[in-house]
Amino acid sequence: MSQADAAFAKGLEGIIAGETTICSVEQGGLFYRGYEIHDLAKNATFDQVAFLLLEGHKPSPAELDRFKAEIRKERPIPHHVTRFLQETGPALKAGTAVPMDVLRSAVSILAHTDPDCQSVAADANLRKAKRLLAKVPTIIGQMQNVIDGRPLVAPETGGDPALDHAANLMYLMSGQKPSPEYARVVDVSLILYAEHDFNASTFTSRVIAGTLSDMHGAVTGGIAALKGPLHGGANEMAMEMLKEIMHDVGEKGIGTKAVDDWMQRAFDTKRKLMGFGHRVYKNGDHRAPILHALGRAIAEKDTRNPGGHAALQWFRLGEQVQAIMLDKKKIHPNVDFPCGLTYFTMGIPVPQYTPIFVASRVSGWCAHVMEQHANNRLIRPLSAYRGEPPRKWNA
Ligand code: SDX
Repeated sequence: MSQADAAFAKGLEGIIAGETTICSVEQGGLFYRGYEIHDLAKNATFDQVAFLLLEGHKPSPAELDRFKAEIRKERPIPHHVTRFLQETGPALKAGTAVPMDVLRSAVSILAHTDPDCQSVAADANLRKAKRLLAKVPTIIGQMQNVIDGRPLVAPETGGDPALDHAANLMYLMSGQKPSPEYARVVDVSLILYAEHDFNASTFTSRVIAGTLSDMHGAVTGGIAALKGPLHGGANEMAMEMLKEIMHDVGEKGIGTKAVDDWMQRAFDTKRKLMGFGHRVYKNGDHRAPILHALGRAIAEKDTRNPGGHAALQWFRLGEQVQAIMLDKKKIHPNVDFPCGLTYFTMGIPVPQYTPIFVASRVSGWCAHVMEQHANNRLIRPLSAYRGEPPRKWNA
């Protein structure tokens, strides 16, 4: 195909760049391998959804038990990765190293001791996908222990074998076992975050896999892409934005014109408000109301006053910001907005919100890497040249 008759769209907006059987993202609905997101959020667990994404079908009880046993066995991380996290402790505490960057580096060095690293064969890829799914939460958890100056949590087992994925992640991060209610809310957030067809980080992973490079490299690239505030990094930035508004208007300002004035100033300066808008969903993100309802339900019972205010006050502020965005800009919240509020209510450190997104999305990324390797064509689009006309160097 020549440049002349190729389609051009900045940011590949509206361009179909490939085929997939993993996920369908439409204004009409979000489906993982044919299962609708509300059905999954209500009736499935993240362990089941991760199996569905990686293996392509709903696991039987025996398959699920085997899968969970495999993941539990793979939870511990190699000593060289633990040492890296400990050596990066001072930079993490100083804020010069951020958790998303440290997670990206840790996943990259994880490859060096994975016996299947250099293979792109289907069986090797599936083994690596399970190891990454198992080890990312351990990296996140031990990193948080290093930041907080706590001893590592159960380094020899990578947590508590009696805990499922979400609960073990929270246990690793704090040394405290979460309540069943908190564990289920995190579990549903992992289901909602798991997969979303050709979003920027997944497409990044597919481009890397498309050169027949390896899964760890593809996931490392995915983490780098997800970090950006226009993508996964928005869940942290949305909470920081709400903290800024709360600081500026005060708790008494919630529900008053003070918030409208704050938002108008943001509109006047063309500020991008984090947690809002979506390239595909223009009438709302199917996932946002699901997580908002779950987060609000725990906020209504919260007695810890995260950030010095009752959790419900944070939700009231968030709901007022949402209403103004819809009224003035016709822009809906995406999943990152309720995620920030919900994780904040549960006391999860803000810089770990996007790493937790990784702990979930690694299942989608690995499914796409396997799909790309199984039916590959190098991904190499064209560009429209707008530069200088041909000229002589020694003119
Ligand atoms: C995720 O792709 C996926 O599936 C991603 C994801 C997944 O699961 O993988 O869903 C996860 O990344 C969700 C998105 C998280 N990002 C943010 O919340 C960052 C803030 N959002 C915006 O940057 C924006 O909405 C994007 C990047 C998400 C989508 O932007 P588009 O499709 O490129 O739309 P646009 O930037 O061209 O905006 C169209 C108009 C613009 O106004 P004009 O300049 O034409 O006057 O809407 C405005 C924008 O300024 N707009 C916003 C806005 N989002 C769009 N204005 C203020 N705040 C916003 N958040």
